[in-house]
Amino acid sequence: MATRLRSIPPTIFSEMSALAVRTGSLNLGQGFPDQDGPPAAVEAAVDALRTGRNQYPPGPGIPELRTAVAAHQARHYDLELDPQSQVVVTAGATEAIAAAILAFVNPGDEMVVLEPFYDSYVACIEMAGGVRRPVTLRAPDFRLDVDALRAAVTERTTTLLLNTPHNPTGAVLTRDELDAVAAVAQEHDLVVVTDEVYEHLLFDGRQHVPICTLPGMWDRTVTISSAGKTFSFTGWKVGWVTGPADLVGTVMAAKQWLTFSNAAPLQPAVALALNQETGFYDALAKALQAKRDVLVDGLRRLDMDVYAPEATYFVTTDVRRYGHSDGMAFCLALPERAGVVAIPSQVFYDEHDEGRHKVRWAFCKDMAVIEEGVRRLEDADLRA
Ligand SMILES: Cc1ncc(COP(=O)(O)O)c(C=O)c1O
Repeated sequence: MATRLRSIPPTIFSEMSALAVRTGSLNLGQGFPDQDGPPAAVEAAVDALRTGRNQYPPGPGIPELRTAVAAHQARHYDLELDPQSQVVVTAGATEAIAAAILAFVNPGDEMVVLEPFYDSYVACIEMAGGVRRPVTLRAPDFRLDVDALRAAVTERTTTLLLNTPHNPTGAVLTRDELDAVAAVAQEHDLVVVTDEVYEHLLFDGRQHVPICTLPGMWDRTVTISSAGKTFSFTGWKVGWVTGPADLVGTVMAAKQWLTFSNAAPLQPAVALALNQETGFYDALAKALQAKRDVLVDGLRRLDMDVYAPEATYFVTTDVRRYGHSDGMAFCLALPERAGVVAIPSQVFYDEHDEGRHKVRWAFCKDMAVIEEGVRRLEDADLRA
């Protein structure tokens, strides 16, 4: 195995989802929804399969999808994008993240990244030969520590990887926090790569603000999103990158050698969804908020410390008061003890002490599954 891969553990999601299948447990681990996206988009995909849209699409994506992404950015954020030069379609946000990191990070360059991190960030920074500089979002409210952000930047820092709404904490960066990030980026001339895949899944009336819309940020920001989260098509792996032509072109320079292109018959279907199914994600956010409330209440009844999320599919708990000092041991025992799978958040942290006792639960599942999960947890003897 190449040395650059040796320090990267296999993704926790494969391990825990396999454990869920093996033990017949409810999977409150991996963030894939139980319900598919809009039926009209599925029909459009079937139609595309049947009408011969099965060969390589253009590397940057089919024009109708790039146009639909541009129209989405205009509608929601008042951004005027040229679909030709400022939008690139990718194999999910995952490829967009990989391509952006390969595009902007030289070996030895430092990249500032919010911790806990989505696990592909760590792997991609390692594979690019970069050095991650974590800024920890700390419980209970997971706010950005602006002093820690400033302290993380050195003369070797070239890029900042942002994620808001944030997985796994469910935090939504406030306007003040975004202003602070923008100030640091401009002061140190950083490129900002921002993963905004949960842009539509906010709760309690919160609004998503893309950092690229802040003064002085457009020219230095590439923004990533995906149909996986917005339309509950996680298995389609259709994502996109938007931003100024020079930065998007640089991401494309890397992306063309990763997949070149993907998902030919799904791209027109995602275009249709973006143009016509705009009610889908509003309804999804509303439904997720109700599911969050059920799961948060259930976990609180178990006497865990529960950090209710402002967005996303995930809620984090601290299992110490519940008698456990190690979230990994807790999660490995959970299928046997309760027939439920959750994710040990420690895998998302460099600062092991901060993450050791935290557990992430997904609520993008049918309400009946969440209620059953809570019931199983209540019935099980889970104390250490
Ligand atoms: C923060 C974040 N970024 C990216 C992804 C991956 O997105 P995609 O499935 O579009 O590759 C996920 C999926 O869970 C995520 O949570």
